[in-house]
Amino acid sequence: MLWPLWNRAVESRRQDAIIDDPWAVALVKRIDYDYARSFGKPTAFHPIRARFGDDRIRAFAERHGDGAIVVALGEGLDTQRLRVADPRLRWFSVDVPAAVTLREHMIEGVENERLIADSALSEAWMDQVPNDRPVFITALGLLMYFQPEQVRQLLRQISARFPMAELCFDTITPLISRKTQRGLRVTRHYTAPPMPWGISVDHVEAFLTTVGWSPLSVQTYADPFPDRMRLYKWLSHVGPVRRALAGGLVHAQSRENVEV
Ligand SMILES: C[S@@+](CC[C@H](N)C(=O)[O-])C[C@H]1O[C@@H](n2cnc3c(N)ncnc32)[C@H](O)[C@@H]1O
Repeated sequence: MLWPLWNRAVESRRQDAIIDDPWAVALVKRIDYDYARSFGKPTAFHPIRARFGDDRIRAFAERHGDGAIVVALGEGLDTQRLRVADPRLRWFSVDVPAAVTLREHMIEGVENERLIADSALSEAWMDQVPNDRPVFITALGLLMYFQPEQVRQLLRQISARFPMAELCFDTITPLISRKTQRGLRVTRHYTAPPMPWGISVDHVEAFLTTVGWSPLSVQTYADPFPDRMRLYKWLSHVGPVRRALAGGLVHAQSRENVEV
């Protein structure tokens, strides 16, 4: 959770920043950690992912207004609710107990939020979130850490429990997934955790329909801000390279969703 936090903070200080996140900047200052030593050169991936989620949540809030719900699965130290800053939204945050304790300690709560210290894979959080109104669920930087069958089951359960849901998540490819399971070194001082779930962007739409979701958009990381990802954009045009390497940004609605 420190890697994306750091990248959001660095991004936020750029002249041409794609997110404005002074809260991430403050958190990075408060957490005494050698970010550059572990993570190397800053990257635009995490800011692009954050902005992708922010934009979709803002559009969701415009469509549904007062009382619409956002559920952030695996929220870590993301300060998305402060960036979006829409008082009409109710926020639920679901993360493992250690992460929730850290979040409580580091980030001042906002009105209309509830932190749930539980696994996203547990159905317990679903019992606490109303399902009689529109719900937007984010799972940014999360699903790749689960086993493929866990991802399928979780997406099926959410779709069945929340008929008026939208969902956004990101993906890595099977090749990158395999590399992380063999120990993918980001730098000499940081090895990425194993990420067992990988899927090619070209296969996401078909996958979604098998687990109760209709795709609204499936993009590569290069699509929203091509100028920030020139090489990636260029490579993403080459089919086999895209399928092997390109991470995806996915927005979907539950199959029963007649509201959106
Ligand atoms: C790579 S971080 C991403 C954090 C945040 N979404 C962001 O973009 O900065 C992964 C997050 O998933 C959380 N996580 C890991 N396993 C989880 C689980 N079973 N249920 C809920 N959250 C989990 C971690 O605690 C961490 O906060």
